[in-house]
Amino acid sequence: MNTIIVGLQWGDEGKGKIVDYLTEGSDVVVRGQGGNNAGHTVIAKGTKYVLHLLPSGILWDAKKNVIGNGVVIDPVGLVQEIQRIESQGVSITPDKLLISDRAHVVLPFHKELDAAREAALGDQKIGTTKRGIGPAYADKVNRCGLRIADFLDREFTVQQITRRVAEANEILAKYDLTIFDADQVVEEVYTAFERLRPHVSNTIPLLHAAWKSGKTILFEGAQGTLLDIDFGTYPFVTSSNTTSGGSCTGTGLPPTAIQSVIGVCKAYTTRVGSGPFPTGDEGLSEYLHGLGREFGATTGRPRGCGWLDTVLLRFACMVNGVTGLAVTNVDGLDEYETLQICTSYDIDGAIHELPPADRKAWDRAVPIYETLPGWKSDTTACTSYEELPAQAKAYLTRLAELCGAPIAFVGVGPDRAQTLAV
Ligand code: GDP
Ligand code: IMO
Ligand code: MG
Repeated sequence: MNTIIVGLQWGDEGKGKIVDYLTEGSDVVVRGQGGNNAGHTVIAKGTKYVLHLLPSGILWDAKKNVIGNGVVIDPVGLVQEIQRIESQGVSITPDKLLISDRAHVVLPFHKELDAAREAALGDQKIGTTKRGIGPAYADKVNRCGLRIADFLDREFTVQQITRRVAEANEILAKYDLTIFDADQVVEEVYTAFERLRPHVSNTIPLLHAAWKSGKTILFEGAQGTLLDIDFGTYPFVTSSNTTSGGSCTGTGLPPTAIQSVIGVCKAYTTRVGSGPFPTGDEGLSEYLHGLGREFGATTGRPRGCGWLDTVLLRFACMVNGVTGLAVTNVDGLDEYETLQICTSYDIDGAIHELPPADRKAWDRAVPIYETLPGWKSDTTACTSYEELPAQAKAYLTRLAELCGAPIAFVGVGPDRAQTLAV
């Protein structure tokens, strides 16, 4: 059975942990969108790994990990990541990591353009990760991007980089930002590309061969549904389709290759960067930050925290076709006396069970809550769903009911072993 793992909130739901957990029973893990704006944490046998571009299946030997055509790859960042993960004792061979020759490349000036755009937006800024993701996807859609395959033709690539650097410099000069030297950019990215070259191939036939021979494929989503360029809280979104449809366009595998969609959400809600957050709650943020939790895996920024929002989750289950929910961080609520679940929004006196499209309506959305009793006990040592306290099971049952999808997995701690299959 081939499965998509998709984030149902604003990212950081615990996708990496669920992908890693499911990799044991799979053969191939493929990323189809996003870039190193993603930060996926896996804790296995006491060691913490943070993955940005590498698929979260990389920790398992004898599994194939594919960076698909829909991903935007920062070659310099990827080489650094490979070196960091190798230094943690993980082998990353060309047999284990495959990079699509159709993937677009994030160039150094894309990152600076990202920063320039944020500076220009002032207090309207998106709060991006400044990894150059927006500018790289913009070049892709604007048909002036460079793909991994282009690097095989050095003369052509040098010409293109020289032209794009000149264009970027014009914009950067206006903001007093770093101006790039085309030769240096070429040197830097080609040094990285040479390290990556043995991993590059046409990954589409490989994925099809795996599918046709009955191998199990996991599609690892990055970001989350409310950051999707179409379905998210536009313009406070990322620049790719983070929802399940992106798994097909980003890998070359068709919808008929996929049998299940696991939607990952936290037992509460978090968001990093700007944009609406109706259930955001300062008390819960302070509490979780006090426990040392909810700091971004990519930028280290504190994530805003809030109550579970089933308006978002209901919508996310719809657009992704979720067949099962993985609810992580249940243990984060262990000490709370009572818990709030947002079931709908009141916008100007009208009740909404699905999120609005109008950006201004988001700001007027008042969450309507249902209050449930907390369980006031430590769940981190639970080894089965049955062992969870009755109130925790009631909370999860209500969550599933409000979202219209069954619970498939529950997370009670960051470690690989703290994942309960239902
Ligand atoms: P991703 O981007 O969706 O892979 O999620 P991140 O790794 O950015 O953020 C999830 C955070 O929650 C990480 O610090 C994980 O180690 C942690 N985490 C995941 N599942 C659980 C869980 O069930 N309990 C606890 N306590 N932490 C978890
Ligand atoms: P994972 O895969 C959480 C957010 C940024 C910003 C917006 C746009 O770890 O869940 P971008 O750099 O993509 O142009 O930023 O999207 N963002 C994420 N938030 N988790 C992520 O990835 C994110 N990737 C981007 O904070 O609000
Ligand atoms: Mg993350």
